[in-house]
Amino acid sequence: MRNQLRFLRKGRVVEMTDVAPAATVLDYLRLTERACGTKEGCAEGDCGACTIAVGSLKNGRVEYQPVNSCIQLLGQVEGCEIVVVDDLAEEQGALHPVQSAMVKHHASQCGFCTPGFVMTLFCLYHSRARPKRADVTDWLAGNLCRCTGYRPIVAAALDSCTGKAVDGYAEREAETRSSLLTLRSEEDVFLGNEQSFLAMPASVESLAGLYARHQGAVLVSGATDVGLWITKQLRDLPKIICLNRAGLDKIEETPDALILGAAATYADAKSALASIDPDLRELLRRLGGKQIRATGTVGGNIANGSPIGDMPPALIALGAEIELRRGDAMRRMALEDFFIAYGRQDRAPGEFLTRIFIPRLRANQRFRCYKISKRFDQDISALMGAFRFELHENAIAGARIAFGGMAATPKRAANAEAALAGVSLAEPGGWHRAGRALAEDFTPISDHRASSVYRLQTAKALLIKALDEVARDSTHETRLVGLREGAVGRFAQA
Ligand code: FES
Ligand code: FES
Repeated sequence: MRNQLRFLRKGRVVEMTDVAPAATVLDYLRLTERACGTKEGCAEGDCGACTIAVGSLKNGRVEYQPVNSCIQLLGQVEGCEIVVVDDLAEEQGALHPVQSAMVKHHASQCGFCTPGFVMTLFCLYHSRARPKRADVTDWLAGNLCRCTGYRPIVAAALDSCTGKAVDGYAEREAETRSSLLTLRSEEDVFLGNEQSFLAMPASVESLAGLYARHQGAVLVSGATDVGLWITKQLRDLPKIICLNRAGLDKIEETPDALILGAAATYADAKSALASIDPDLRELLRRLGGKQIRATGTVGGNIANGSPIGDMPPALIALGAEIELRRGDAMRRMALEDFFIAYGRQDRAPGEFLTRIFIPRLRANQRFRCYKISKRFDQDISALMGAFRFELHENAIAGARIAFGGMAATPKRAANAEAALAGVSLAEPGGWHRAGRALAEDFTPISDHRASSVYRLQTAKALLIKALDEVARDSTHETRLVGLREGAVGRFAQA
């Protein structure tokens, strides 16, 4: 057991023994280090002003991910490198290539958002990709510029991110790699005492033991939700267990299923999920921004039990199951059975989610999912619909339909599913009967995201759209972006 938190910054190992359990990286930077280049805007992971780069070893290379430091806990950067905007200038203050490009293209007005944009672009620069405009806008979807200076910012990105990295961080990569290897360890990290602590267990067994002893502790995976309990609700969280080192991030792919560790991030799981169906890739593109996807996890999206989480409806429609562990005892259940009522899940004290089993589609199954939100990027769903149809000849032999935003939990549409049984893909009359049955399945509420009437009408429309796409085997008539046929969309720019 180690009683010290360690991470790398500016080539030196930072060691901390006295850390408040819920301390955020942003507070540490601004209040302890007085590195005030990193700004706080929304303090809830929405605007990207606080973006920093977090480096870790992936496939033998140092990979940088943009992260919202306002909702990132210090415990989450254990064993990683952090790079902040104050660190970028090279010797004698020479600007980093992405900073120079921002200056050259006049991409900063008031400048409050600029440090965050620079750090996201730093990560894009180090991805060694040669991005197109659509890639840049995806990368920048989690950075908000209130002065709407996007055109010059995108120009700066295209100018500076040219597929190679030639800055000091690239020069020192071998050194950084060996420092990160030195920081890797198999020991549990525990700071504090039995009443108040920050723990980073190094195995699932240690996690199970610790959580069994401290059932009131808060489990933190990506902190994209818990971070707001700290910054917005000002909750006192005396016991925090970070899951990132507990070995729950494994991704196993078999011919029949994808098995995701509960702490696998969206970023890491994206290509495996997309191998099940291209609509999951499109869904993930619109789930948060790069920063949220870099730390947020599929397991967290399930465990927090939100009725408007994006992943549960899609996973329920696919027939996913989850595995839970309490001490040494494990159990497995259908995902839809986990959600009991608003804020209530089938999880005993001391029990935690370990894995998610997602069956692949069989040859006669078709999947579609759609997210409806007010903003295209980085928004919370008003409605999320997911559909899996099993076909026999040209008729529907079985359907799994799940919605988020329509009830107090993510929920299947049993009446609509039953109404579709045996319906021909050539008979839209049967589709509409199933659409009307949704009114028996759901009584949605009205809130600031959508009215109940809108939700019900749109749910019907999504069902008809899914059936239409399956019947035509084309999305050219039904989508402006995210075509399944391969293109990003008919309005995408090269
Ligand atoms: Fe807005 Fe962190 S301050 S995302
Ligand atoms: Fe003012 Fe972006 S330059 S918010």
